[in-house]
Amino acid sequence: MRAPFFRLYYGPAFRAAQIERRTLHVPAALGAFDGKTLLFMSDLHMSDMFPEAAMERLLAQAGALRPDVLLIGGDLAETEAYQARAVEMLGKLRPELGTFAVVGNNDGKRLKRRGAVLPAALRRAGITPLIDAEASVETPGGRLIVAGLNALIERTRVRVTFFADSGEGDLRILMAHYPKSLTQYSGRCAKPPHLALAGHTHGGQFRFLGLTPYSIGFELSKTDRGLPVHGWTDIPGFPLLVSPGVGTSRIPFRLNVPPTVHLITIRAGA
Ligand SMILES: [Fe+2]
Repeated sequence: MRAPFFRLYYGPAFRAAQIERRTLHVPAALGAFDGKTLLFMSDLHMSDMFPEAAMERLLAQAGALRPDVLLIGGDLAETEAYQARAVEMLGKLRPELGTFAVVGNNDGKRLKRRGAVLPAALRRAGITPLIDAEASVETPGGRLIVAGLNALIERTRVRVTFFADSGEGDLRILMAHYPKSLTQYSGRCAKPPHLALAGHTHGGQFRFLGLTPYSIGFELSKTDRGLPVHGWTDIPGFPLLVSPGVGTSRIPFRLNVPPTVHLITIRAGA
């Protein structure tokens, strides 16, 4: 069946996200993670244009996928009240290996104004905030290590080295809101990540005849021209995904870029 030529997605009418499924092949030494699933969701932008009912539908869908790990790519909400609600709602999903979040540029504005309120709220909700930091979870046979970059948003410097004590049985994931952070700061990783994830672009939010605002120079200073606006690449030397995310900012609809979440299944060896 041919894909529709013209499709609008309007937040308040949100029913379900498109689920992009991908198998991530990792070395046999990561056998402890074989079959584990990671769900990556970014750019929820909870607001009057992506209200509580829409968020509930998204989280019901996410819960039904029963991921082992939930990864959140930032831009949770458009207002402080919605941000608090988004954190609370996301915290109700309790995947076995945990939930990890980086903050987005929209969250960052509030982060500056309100100090450490957002990281503390995330922690209270059982979500690990990663602000130029990493966190790990012990599993039988290996550790999951997730590192999160914030530097390009807050204009801070990344002073830590990620994955410094990582062994060959550890699954390493690097997250950032801005795709450019993943390439700009990959040198801060002592060992390359097995997976790198970013959001922010909304896949251009409007795509027509293969063109998006990024095709005509939108956010030139913030984007890495070598990376896709939406999709996977191995160009940095590790698998990297730029998600088109779920919600919208500024203009409350998407054109030909469906709200999307990513279910990634780990396959170790062969
Ligand atoms: Fe966003």
